[in-house]
Amino acid sequence: MKHLLDIKQLTQHDVQRLMQRAFYFKKKGVLIPRHEATLATMFYENSTRTRISFTLAASRLGMQVVNLDVPTSSVAKGESMGDTLANLHAMGVGYFVIRHSTNGVVRSLANAYDGASLHLINAGDGTHAHPSQALLDFMTILEHKNDVSGLKIAIVGDVLHSRVANSWLELAQLMGVGECVLIAPEPWQPQTLAFGKKVTSLEEGLSDADVIVCLRVQRERLLPFEQLDLHTYRSQYALTTQSIRYAKHDAIVMHPGPVNRGVEMESEIMDGPQSVILQQVENGVYMRMALLEELRSD
Ligand code: CP
Repeated sequence: MKHLLDIKQLTQHDVQRLMQRAFYFKKKGVLIPRHEATLATMFYENSTRTRISFTLAASRLGMQVVNLDVPTSSVAKGESMGDTLANLHAMGVGYFVIRHSTNGVVRSLANAYDGASLHLINAGDGTHAHPSQALLDFMTILEHKNDVSGLKIAIVGDVLHSRVANSWLELAQLMGVGECVLIAPEPWQPQTLAFGKKVTSLEEGLSDADVIVCLRVQRERLLPFEQLDLHTYRSQYALTTQSIRYAKHDAIVMHPGPVNRGVEMESEIMDGPQSVILQQVENGVYMRMALLEELRSD
């Protein structure tokens, strides 16, 4: 695999191989470094989990890691992303983990630098895709549920702006997940869906769910006509000790983070026994090790 741009590029076999390697890393720990390679993180949007877990994953594989601190870099003088990338590549960086607010920007860079010996990883582009998040989430589900073909997965929240949900639906379809239900108020529902169905009722959507994925309310992406009163959202869509009862008693609760405590879910749920949120974060390092290993073998 040369780049990781979105889930569409993967086959079932690719995902199975990545899962196998991520579980191997989780069980066996670190690898002895094979040879030097340098990775740069280029985050034009904020991040805690993705940037740091790619940094840890690369370090554990013996890679050198540099971080482009965007606000203090020459980006502030107007240098384009392509020129920044070319300059880092000239210094010997071969792997780039990129987050940006523009949909499709990582694919555009991959096309522009098609002939170059560099590898790009989409760490979240606008509302389009966040493939490594979907993969680490899928890994976490496999630790709790055996047969994905029989699962009902409920995804709750701001589906319209969620790159996580987009990658999720593509991966769920690819891997034969039984049922995906997207639960969102009308203004946050997409026009069309790659997979699954959409509902506005939390009770209907959560009914008999095995996995509940809550999405962050992305205030920074809401347009004026998409604004919702947070009090109303909370009262109708927050996962609470009451509303979680609509789902199966052994349902797991996920969230890509960061969580707006008390908005998407109550603290009792976030810190409760059904929450696997920190396990997602832990698995993020192993899944990103598996992804980097895959790119390095190209
Ligand atoms: N889930 C996720 O992408 O988190 P960060 O924004 O902290 O990287």
